[in-house]
Amino acid sequence: MLPNPPDGLRHWRPGDAPALEAAWGDPVINRWNPPQPGLDATTWIAGLEDRWARRLALDLVIRPPDEGADRFVAVAGEVGLSGFTTDPARAELGVWVAAPRRRSGVASTAVHTMSEWALAPDGIALDQLWARTDPANGASEALFERLGWDRLGTSGGMTIWSATRVLLR
Ligand SMILES: CC(C)(COP(=O)(O)OP(=O)(O)OC[C@H]1O[C@@H](n2cnc3c(N)ncnc32)[C@H](O)[C@@H]1OP(=O)(O)O)[C@@H](O)C(=O)NCCC(=O)NCCS
Repeated sequence: MLPNPPDGLRHWRPGDAPALEAAWGDPVINRWNPPQPGLDATTWIAGLEDRWARRLALDLVIRPPDEGADRFVAVAGEVGLSGFTTDPARAELGVWVAAPRRRSGVASTAVHTMSEWALAPDGIALDQLWARTDPANGASEALFERLGWDRLGTSGGMTIWSATRVLLR
């Protein structure tokens, strides 16, 4: 069963498929968060529970801060966890924001909310979150820097970031 997300985030719904297709078609998202080739949004959304049951991923919709009557379909972006491991309990965090919503604090708020929840004992109870950013993707590097994540170094040409409860406190 899918866990209850914290305020500001929600699970994907079948009606979000057009918004997800549009996001996948955005050149910036497509460059830095490419979707799985050959997979359509409806099929991807239908696979959420299975991906969580197998601890492959948990991807959540970022609800627009100003959402109104269209709150069930509006998608400001996505923040997700993937590649769960145990002992220590870790997952990789990824995020994208729809083009019209960028540069207004959407990712900062969503990553903060997701991190607090993922690391809380009564949330997902992870020991550590990590993220990787391409040094050519200045926006994503600046985001994790600004959020106070630890820059651990580089691996495979990517910058590796880490967050724990102690660090985020
Ligand atoms: C990276 C991304 C998620 C940032 O989302 P956002 O909602 O625009 O980010 P925020 O508004 O919360 O910005 C937080 C900080 O990040 C930095 N930042 C964000 N976008 C930036 C940009 N285009 N250039 C430089 N710094 C940027 C700034 O320090 C910003 O704080 P400020 O606006 O007070 O200066 C968004 O650009 C995106 O979706 N990019 C494509 C997908 C991607 O690269 N994902 C990251 C892979 S892990």
